[in-house]
Amino acid sequence: MFFMYIYQREKRFFAKCPTEFLDLVEKELIQRKCLSIKKRFRGISFKCKSVEDIFEINYTSSLISKIYAPLIEFPAPGKKEIYENVMKIKWEDFLTPQKTFSIEGSLSNSKINNSHYAALCVKDAIADYFRKKYGKRPSVNKRDPDLSINIFIENNFATVSLNISGKSLHQRGYRKFSSSAPIQENLAHFMLKLHPYKGKERMLDPFCGSGTLLAEALMIACKIPSGYLRKKWGFFNMPEFNKKIWENIKSKYNKHITEIEYGKIVGSDISMEEIEKAKVNLKNIPFGERIKLTQKDFKEIPAFKGLIFTNPPYGIRMGKKEKLKEMIKDFGDFLKKKCTDSTAYIYFGNRELIKDLGLKTSFKLPVKNGGIDGRIVKVEIY
Ligand SMILES: C[S@@+](CC[C@H](N)C(=O)[O-])C[C@H]1O[C@@H](n2cnc3c(N)ncnc32)[C@H](O)[C@@H]1O
Repeated sequence: MFFMYIYQREKRFFAKCPTEFLDLVEKELIQRKCLSIKKRFRGISFKCKSVEDIFEINYTSSLISKIYAPLIEFPAPGKKEIYENVMKIKWEDFLTPQKTFSIEGSLSNSKINNSHYAALCVKDAIADYFRKKYGKRPSVNKRDPDLSINIFIENNFATVSLNISGKSLHQRGYRKFSSSAPIQENLAHFMLKLHPYKGKERMLDPFCGSGTLLAEALMIACKIPSGYLRKKWGFFNMPEFNKKIWENIKSKYNKHITEIEYGKIVGSDISMEEIEKAKVNLKNIPFGERIKLTQKDFKEIPAFKGLIFTNPPYGIRMGKKEKLKEMIKDFGDFLKKKCTDSTAYIYFGNRELIKDLGLKTSFKLPVKNGGIDGRIVKVEIY
């Protein structure tokens, strides 16, 4: 009997993203004409018109972390149920004994209360499935598997899905070097989308570090798809994957890539080492050399009018507390005196520093970056 998986029957998928991004991801999926869009815990369930749409969403979405294609759902009070149900999947649809795989597990309010254990049950079932049928099994590769499989158990009900993105989509591929406190690529993108920055205005990051906000701004301004540099995708393992369709999707978006004039996006940092890192990272992106980078204390930056997106130092690692407070005060003065008629979006890893800016904020948005409970603030400078 021909077995159809959930994503094939219903064209239903799940987009994982940080909770703070849910509203913007929902908006993005509506714009893409997805259907049955439902916000869930740390992600959104949605339906596509065709399975091919999901290749496109993977290639172009800048806020989604991973997309899952659900295969089966079943009640999972214990190991036995997981094992038996996972054994029912025709695994050669996605894997061969020569390929590598890994399992991600997550749980909520269920009898099985250890995600590693849940993942282990799936791994055992897949290994036994291949061993029984072929006498050999695909091996596990946690770092860079060909296919990653997800089991999510909520209220004792399990969903087994393919991770069809592969590595998290925030890993765009341009970051070869990072600063000691880098902002995550999708958080940088989120900050830009809050405005929303479209590449028309001048943009400055006076604490640019390894250049993440500059890189994301460049990708928006030049219409470079977020997946442009990525070579490996989880959906390569789907039976629906078709190289020709994939090449067509890529060229449909790549042909809209546009140039940017030199100096429209500007970055500076007090550390030459950081500027060198930013240079290397930006070189990986088309038109990256059009970003003007200079080694400078922010106080030496000449008058600027436009949009400022930045992430000043915040941690004890990066400086002593009193010195840091003084620096943020000076930065506030710099904005007041030298950036009139500008708008600034500032990510504070330490929210206690916001008041030291001495400026009225239009909003303070809680966001997490690498486990740090930070805030994005917006400041209008008149
Ligand atoms: C939190 S990091 C920015 C990280 C950056 N967003 C990234 O993704 O790599 C803060 C940066 O501020 C720089 N910095 C510290 N004091 C500065 C100053 N007075 N003027 C300009 N940059 C400064 C540091 O060298 C550091 O690279």
